[in-house]
Amino acid sequence: MVVPGSHHREDKIYHPPEDLKKDAHVPDFYSYLALYKKSVDEPEVFWREVAAEFYWKKPATGPILQYNFDVTKGNIYVKCMEGAKTNMCYNVLDRNVKDRNLGEKVAYYWEGNSPDHSMAITYSQLLSQVCRCANVLKQMGVKKGDRVAIYMPMIPELVYTMLACARIGAVHSIVFAGYSSESLCERILDAQCCIVVTADGVYRGQKLINLKQIVEEALEKSRDKVSPTVTRCLVVKNHSLRTKSGEASNKLQIPWDAERDVWWDEVMADVSDDCEPEWLDAEDPLFILYTSGSTGKPKGVLHTVAGYMLYTSLTFKYVFDHHHDDVYWCTADIGWITGHSYITYGPLANGATGVLFEGLPVYPHVGRFWEIIEKYKVTKFYTAPTAIRLLMKYGKEPVQKYNLSSLRILGTVGEPINPEAWLWYYEVVGQSRCPVVDTFWQTETGGHVLTPLPAATPLKPGSATFPFFGVEPTILNEHGEELEGEAEGYLVFRRPWPGIMRTVYGNQERFENQYFKKFPGFYVTGDGCRRDKDGYYWITGRIDDMLNVSGHLMSTAEVEAALTKHAAVAEAAVVSRPHVVKGECLYCFVTLKDSREFNHKLVEELKGLVRERIGPIATPDFIQNAPGLPKTRSGKIMRRVLRQIARNEKDLGDLSTLADPKVVEVLFSQRCEAAA
Ligand code: PRX
Repeated sequence: MVVPGSHHREDKIYHPPEDLKKDAHVPDFYSYLALYKKSVDEPEVFWREVAAEFYWKKPATGPILQYNFDVTKGNIYVKCMEGAKTNMCYNVLDRNVKDRNLGEKVAYYWEGNSPDHSMAITYSQLLSQVCRCANVLKQMGVKKGDRVAIYMPMIPELVYTMLACARIGAVHSIVFAGYSSESLCERILDAQCCIVVTADGVYRGQKLINLKQIVEEALEKSRDKVSPTVTRCLVVKNHSLRTKSGEASNKLQIPWDAERDVWWDEVMADVSDDCEPEWLDAEDPLFILYTSGSTGKPKGVLHTVAGYMLYTSLTFKYVFDHHHDDVYWCTADIGWITGHSYITYGPLANGATGVLFEGLPVYPHVGRFWEIIEKYKVTKFYTAPTAIRLLMKYGKEPVQKYNLSSLRILGTVGEPINPEAWLWYYEVVGQSRCPVVDTFWQTETGGHVLTPLPAATPLKPGSATFPFFGVEPTILNEHGEELEGEAEGYLVFRRPWPGIMRTVYGNQERFENQYFKKFPGFYVTGDGCRRDKDGYYWITGRIDDMLNVSGHLMSTAEVEAALTKHAAVAEAAVVSRPHVVKGECLYCFVTLKDSREFNHKLVEELKGLVRERIGPIATPDFIQNAPGLPKTRSGKIMRRVLRQIARNEKDLGDLSTLADPKVVEVLFSQRCEAAA
């Protein structure tokens, strides 16, 4: 790594602002390099210093990190601080209230879908609610190690529930509340959850969604499967559906099973707000979070207590250069890893004040984000490229209507950010004062792995720059050979850091096959990557059959499986096509069964089917009739060719392996110009 000196227009470098350096945790690039060196040369010393800030019921007896990353030498494993006992919830709440005197500090400013709904929650109040919820869960029969499914909107009760699980050693499995009943059912069954915590409903913009009904359908579907596991359901009355006087402002009809279901408000009123934390082993599970797998079946990524705690806390502190007076806002949903790590655990571990937002970027008006930044004087703001591209469409005016002078640092996550969006974010939102930290990471990595540090790293728009402490990236070619200097290939990591996933829940074999088989000795991210002459890393996107739509990963296989559920469809193949706001969108080719007609009604049915089976985030933009698909002689679909047809790229290169090249012409002649 070298400090770059180039000033050509195409790779203009944005240096950290001086005022940020004054009190920064890592004030310049040389400090970053020195700390980075320490983290890889002396990981024991480095992580022990980080661990010293936390409360341990029992200290670690073994080394900080033990691992095997080489499948040829036996099972893959990572262990952090073996022998230690601690509790995540105690560390993010009790420690702040009791040891750091932060009880009266605001933990969250909650802002509802409607600007009329908001509240502030202090650390003491949060602790009290979490303890009550922990007692409720215990009363409902939840024990250490049990899995708890959470299907909730962005309301404070979501945070209470996840921390309550952490407190009693139950393993939360949060399912994004935009997923369909089918997806929820699949996740409940895979993790064998014993209880679902949900809410009656939620407004997304003006649309009212009946969450309890979706849970009902998921549980009904699970009853058809071999082993239904859920015996209880805890239901929050979402107060943002109600007027200030408590009256329901909607006509939600929710299904109710008196044996199984209980209202949150009723049970919370009757329990104590005192709950002794369960002292867990460092490597006990903390949560499962499902992410799409290339086979179509989601993978339950498992994270454990101590390593995830150290890593989310440290990345939050350094990447957002956290200080006591900050007001931090991450716009992600807690249903994704970004919310787990950087709305709940990382910020709370640092005693931060965060914004918790239930709503949408453009409701009730397109300046909502900027209005909230002004309202709470947000200093650090973290969002996704897709949101930036969406808001860019409305121009500068909605941004300039608000006072954004509180902002100090901007962040992005979820997908590669195009330089145009980066520059707009930097110049219009950050008024050219605020560094943009482009953080590359994954559900699997637990926290940021490639990222700038705001006061230290000179930025290049579109590059996630350099590795975080303890992370050792490298780039391999197809043969698994390491590439030095300027290069492009597979992004892999040579060794673990504390926050990396431990296994795929219930499927160690899949864990090893997915991430460690291809290149023994390395964790394989599935992303392509380029390193430039200055050592900067640039993520080029997925190099497997995964798609990234608006920052949400999904597999071609899961969408194809949904499409082929339709009685008229014989075969389906899904590829991505660039989209100005979503980054990528879905372009689907469907081959119909004999005698079935391709028409508008069918297209609508297919879109509905995908929405129903996966969720609205997976709704296809394009569906094309494909009398035949381009296949090799051995019958494998050539996705490269389909991708080029979807993008209207006429130069198809070598088609000699195709069984029937004429198919391509037909597909070109029928391609969709406009979105369906
Ligand atoms: O392809 C990369 C992309 O998102 C994938 C991980 O998705 P998920 O597990 O859902 O987690 C998203 C939030 C951490 C990665 O494999 N990705 C994420 N961040 C970036 C990115 N691609 C480029 N630049 C990023 N900053």
